[in-house]
This record gives sequence, structure tokens and C-alpha cells, in this order.
Amino acid sequence: MKIDRSAQSSLRLGILLSGRGSNFLAIAESIRAGRLKNVEIAVVISNVVEAGGIAKAREMGLPTKVLVSKGRKRDEHDADVIASLRAHRVDLVCLAGYMRLLSPEFVAAFPNRILNIHPSLLPAFPGLDAQEQAFNYGVKVAGCTVHFVDNELDHGAIVLQRAIPVLDDDDAHSLSERILKEEHIAYTEAIARVGSGEYEIRGRRYVKTGNEGAREQGKRP
Ligand code: GRF
Repeated sequence: MKIDRSAQSSLRLGILLSGRGSNFLAIAESIRAGRLKNVEIAVVISNVVEAGGIAKAREMGLPTKVLVSKGRKRDEHDADVIASLRAHRVDLVCLAGYMRLLSPEFVAAFPNRILNIHPSLLPAFPGLDAQEQAFNYGVKVAGCTVHFVDNELDHGAIVLQRAIPVLDDDDAHSLSERILKEEHIAYTEAIARVGSGEYEIRGRRYVKTGNEGAREQGKRP
């Protein structure tokens, strides 16, 4: 289901995180700086009490919620997360380092309205430690992917990818840091694209339509 922007003024994001939250902060900064217009963060939810990202969200005065997942059944925990997202009238869910698989019920509750960012050029290197996987494999190009979430890990339709070269003097750490910089740009861009509503999902292809699509077509030789 696409987001109908004509029906509302502001796109309400629900951010889910488990850790330091640099992608969340990049999104918040893009909103503050006016790079993401008519977008607001409706709630930040963490499944981990000590997550640095949730502390920062609190400091920023954003609505926050901690829903601890450890020791709970996935569908029961997800039901609480869904209820919180609904209570905050969230239009688009953004997974930003949320280290937990979503139940099918969660995915179905927000059809094509959940984004994830992954630090590799999918479908290469899904799962944990993607940057290290890519580095150890010896790829010459690495990057990040923002995609819709479906029922498979790091799998749904790709909204956009950003690629960088792997340098001869890189190690897994330096590569991760440079990918992270691209992630911070990519997530903002993906939210803007999805928020515009000017796209279709054909099969598993995200295709721009409307003005955005026409502009792209015009660029072709
Ligand atoms: C990022 O590398 C993201 O791609 C992955 O988890 C990491 C989260 O980092 N899904 P941060 O918490 O946003 O700083």
C-alpha cells in the first residue's frame, strides 16, 4: 500500500532502533535542516533499554517508547510495537539499526510502509556484519541499500543504493565508516522518495513515476 500524501500534510515517521542511532540522528537532522520537508518523527521506539539512540531521542524531546523484546515471543512483542506505532499515527516505519526480525503480522500491518537500511549492496551480504563480509570477500565496490521490508531478511524491493569503492588501504572498520556516511545520505533520500508517493512497485522493482520519473527519463541519452 502506498502512502497517500494528498490526504495529509505531514509524513509521520516511526523510527525503530536498537543501538547508537546514527541513522536516526541523520534523519532528524535532515528534518531540522529542511532537507526533508513535511516530515516529522512521530515516535522513536527501542527494543533495548540502553540503546544510545533512544537516550538521544529523549534529549531531543521526541516521543519515545522502550519496548523490551528480550525474553518475549516475537508476535507478542510486535503487537505492542504495532499498537504504539498506531497510537502515534505513524505513516512510515523506518528501521534504523533495529536488530530484530519482524513477524509476518508486523509486515502485514504496514504493507510497503516499512523501510530498512542495510550496509551492503543487496542482494550481496545480507545479515549481520555485512561490511566485514564484503571486505573479507574482497569486493571492489561496497555500499548500502534502503529497501522495503518483506517477510525475508534484507530482501524487499530496493528504493535506492549508494556505492563506494573499496580502497587498497581500507580495513573493515574504515570501510564501515565510509559506508555509514553514505547510509546517512541514503536514508533521507529514500524517505523523500517514498514520501512523495511518486512511485510504483512492479514485481520487486521500485519504479519512479510522476514528475520524478519524468525527470529521470529526460536524463537518458
Ligand atoms: C547501520 O549500519 C545500518 O545499516 C544497520 O545497522 C547499523 C545501525 O547503525 N542496519 P546506527 O544505529 O544507525 O548508527
